[in-house]
Amino acid sequence: MGTLTNTIFISAESIPEKFRISQPIEQREYLINGEMKIWSGNLNPVLSPVFLRHGSEFKQEIIGSTPLLTSTESLEALEAATNAYDLGKGVWPTMSVIQRIEHVENFLTAMRVKRDEVVTLLMWEIGKTLRDSEREFDRTCDYIVETIKAYKELDRNSAKFVDEQGFMAQIRRVPLGVSLCMGPYNYPLNETFTTLIPALIMGNTVVFKPAKYGVLLIRPLLDAFAKSFPAGVINIIYGRGRETVGALMETGKVDVFAFIGTNKGANELKRLHPKPHRLKAILGLDAKNPAIVLPDADLDNAVSECIAGSLSFNGQRCTALKILFVHESIVEEFIARFNYRVSQLKAGMPWEEGVSLTPLPEPGKVEYLKGLVEDATAHGARVVNENGGEYQHTFFYPAVLYPVNAKMRLYSEEQFGPVVPIVPFTSDDEPIDYVVNSNFGQQVSIFGTDSKRLARIMDAFVNQVGRINLNTQSQRGPDTFPFNGRKDSAEGTLSIADALRVFSIRTLVSIKNTEANKQILSTIIRNRESAFLSTDYIL
Ligand code: G3H
Repeated sequence: MGTLTNTIFISAESIPEKFRISQPIEQREYLINGEMKIWSGNLNPVLSPVFLRHGSEFKQEIIGSTPLLTSTESLEALEAATNAYDLGKGVWPTMSVIQRIEHVENFLTAMRVKRDEVVTLLMWEIGKTLRDSEREFDRTCDYIVETIKAYKELDRNSAKFVDEQGFMAQIRRVPLGVSLCMGPYNYPLNETFTTLIPALIMGNTVVFKPAKYGVLLIRPLLDAFAKSFPAGVINIIYGRGRETVGALMETGKVDVFAFIGTNKGANELKRLHPKPHRLKAILGLDAKNPAIVLPDADLDNAVSECIAGSLSFNGQRCTALKILFVHESIVEEFIARFNYRVSQLKAGMPWEEGVSLTPLPEPGKVEYLKGLVEDATAHGARVVNENGGEYQHTFFYPAVLYPVNAKMRLYSEEQFGPVVPIVPFTSDDEPIDYVVNSNFGQQVSIFGTDSKRLARIMDAFVNQVGRINLNTQSQRGPDTFPFNGRKDSAEGTLSIADALRVFSIRTLVSIKNTEANKQILSTIIRNRESAFLSTDYIL
């Protein structure tokens, strides 16, 4: 433990009143078939990454507990979702678009009221800073608003008939069935909702299991879910993954598997489904996005972007820059400036003004990061920043490692934390080969000013990753941009519009273009005899 980390954790009295959790939240509620059930069985304690100082001692805060449901309850949730879908005949999948939108709007209104509660829990459960927690909440609300807009647009485009080679057809998007939605602990609200909301709005029914950490923060929204949707449309379960979710996949009744997490976890769960061809998977998985800093890069910009890219939320973003390739001609200068910027980052509790380095929520994470640093130093790297790798309990001060090479675990392993490996390179082919041979293929960031050189490197990556960022860090947003990845990094593409597509399939009604058939079509439309076949235009 170093002197710097010794001041991170504070006493309970030093926490501003409005961010305190007065007493542990014992959650026993879970939502099945529109009914808020109360669990009387075992509970799972929720440990905060925040330790509190009690005199000279430090104690990890237990901020509450959540139900440890078993496969019995989780299968009940699936049954509710299956019944609500009713083989596509249910009220929800057959409801008009405008009505489904109304339900989602009602949910959003009820959700907005819970902002403060959710934001406080985000800070306590996963250690996300106040600013970023607020951003996560607001971004999620915006995502819902934009999803509604995109759905209206989609519906408007489907209102017209296609006239092709003697056929007339109306093509619309319809739901796929029962979705299982699971999100990650680093964006337990936002990323979960980027699948959950599109799944619902398109008419699917859902079983939703909150992330490993960042679980209690869904509780303030349970009531809004219960009141905003018909019974069985959204079911929310808690418990250990293998026991609860594994049982669901084994039934073969899950039609869509939306999962943001590790590729190992996704593979294990997917494998349990007895009819893989009937399962549509939408996955956001591991990544090891590199930054490549060329000799002519604007160093101030490159350093700023690499700081944000590698250390926002302590490096716990799937899109984080997880390895920096810096040209050897500028690497010393880059490291000097980078280290200075690291030293300016404020460490502390998530609610503190201007803080950016905070404790880590995963148990064992500090030991894991220490292991990565030890392995790198054993193979010839040094921690080159002051205080780098100091730790206390759940807090780990960023360690900048240099020079990193292929023998080290940090070269290929996704650290998902505040350790920054820097690799010097001489030929542009070195980082290109790294990406080509990597198991991951999410994004890459290139920093430079020579257009010819940038273009060559960029072109080398277009068939390797989902997004190439020029002179900027890797990131998911704007949420209208396609977000995907290759290899072990993802399956399917998400964006506001793409998510509506991945949770639906196109169905069409087609006729041969005869007068008699056209008459039938006109009658159906004029008399509003069909919910599907209609030229109604949502404003
Ligand atoms: O953890 C992965 C997130 O989708 C990253 O999103 O780039 O907006 O932080 P972000």
